[in-house]
Amino acid sequence: MVKKIKTDDASGRGAVEGFKVPFPGRMYKYTEEEINAVVEVMRNADGLTQGPYMKQFEEDFKTYTGANHAFAVDNATNALRLSAILCRLKPGDEVIIPAYTFCATAIPFGMTGAKIVWADIDEDRRVVAPEDIERKITEKTKAIVVVHLLGMPVDMEAVIAIAEKHNLRVVEDCAQAPSAAIDGRQVGTFGDFGCFSFHGAKNMTTLGEGGMLTVRSNQDAALVPGIRHNGCRAYAGERQRYWVPAMSNVDIDIEGIWPNNFCIGEAQCALGSFLLKRLDKINDTLIAQATKIKKALADVPELSFHKIPEGYRHIYHQFVMHFDGSALGKDRNDLMDVLANKYKIRVIVQYYPLYRYPLFQRLGAGEHDCPVLERWWDNSFSFPWWCGIPDETIDYLVSSLKDAIVELKGA
Ligand SMILES: Cc1ncc(COP(=O)(O)O)c(C=O)c1O
Repeated sequence: MVKKIKTDDASGRGAVEGFKVPFPGRMYKYTEEEINAVVEVMRNADGLTQGPYMKQFEEDFKTYTGANHAFAVDNATNALRLSAILCRLKPGDEVIIPAYTFCATAIPFGMTGAKIVWADIDEDRRVVAPEDIERKITEKTKAIVVVHLLGMPVDMEAVIAIAEKHNLRVVEDCAQAPSAAIDGRQVGTFGDFGCFSFHGAKNMTTLGEGGMLTVRSNQDAALVPGIRHNGCRAYAGERQRYWVPAMSNVDIDIEGIWPNNFCIGEAQCALGSFLLKRLDKINDTLIAQATKIKKALADVPELSFHKIPEGYRHIYHQFVMHFDGSALGKDRNDLMDVLANKYKIRVIVQYYPLYRYPLFQRLGAGEHDCPVLERWWDNSFSFPWWCGIPDETIDYLVSSLKDAIVELKGA
């Protein structure tokens, strides 16, 4: 048996030991060049925030993604918070959000006082279904949030068409999907806002925390710097005395909004610029691993994967599959028991449909109508996943999974 250990670990991943194949918290190791980039900032940066490294990182991110504007922030939760503020949501409004995602997608929108309306998934693509979004629009709806969950792009052509028809704002949660794309166009460039995460477990991490907000319109972009930094912006033009008026231009352009500090440090930004140079390689490795595993499991009818339309680049932030054991009278938990206890493989389950969490129920977001997610989620699971899984580990994972299903058939 794998051994449960007492832990304070909030990630839920560290609570068990004794695995042959673990589920690491980090995707990859930093290179010496990346480590040196951080050290250089420690030596040289004059002020460790909002300086030249941040500006460079924002420029590099714009070039890499093709976004009109990019603002580095401390995490994706606050990129989403900035989006929610800029959507001008207030009590009485409604915002449509996928129920299948990490809780940080929804919390910043809940904070505005707007009502969260949960959207269902598309069973084939396993990300939010545009037709379900449209079904849930009312005259109170002000914004749509989509999530390119696990690195799989949402059908943005359909989402944008719906938003234009109903005059709604669109926020793309790209936390798990940097460089995921549709026909070469990257996620985060379709909607009004794109929110990226550089958290420690992501495909690209700036020392554990970090994020980027991409913005489409010049009007929205002009409002970000003040909200991002306690209402402070540089003065435009010259001043006769540099100390009059004091400090910087402290004001806010949106009625009734308190600004905040959502800034990121210079060392993280310097690292971010370097990581962008090898993000394609990291994602290509993850895609190759996923392709290999899917091919090896293609003859197991009980297992199914995301169906990826032609032209979509799914970058596999995680590798999730679905187990249909109904003909065997078994479910995901039976399979995970065998994988964990006999084969010592740390398969995990990610994100309950958010309306099932007490947090959302207590905050008035427990109501739901997501039949596909209800049917699908309870039998999905994530395989151990990181960048550069050795071939022999992939072989062990695949053969163990096949053997476990054969054993369930005989049980
Ligand atoms: C889908 C999704 N949205 C938002 C976030 C929040 O990102 P951050 O940790 O950078 O605030 C995460 C992070 O795990 C995420 O997976």
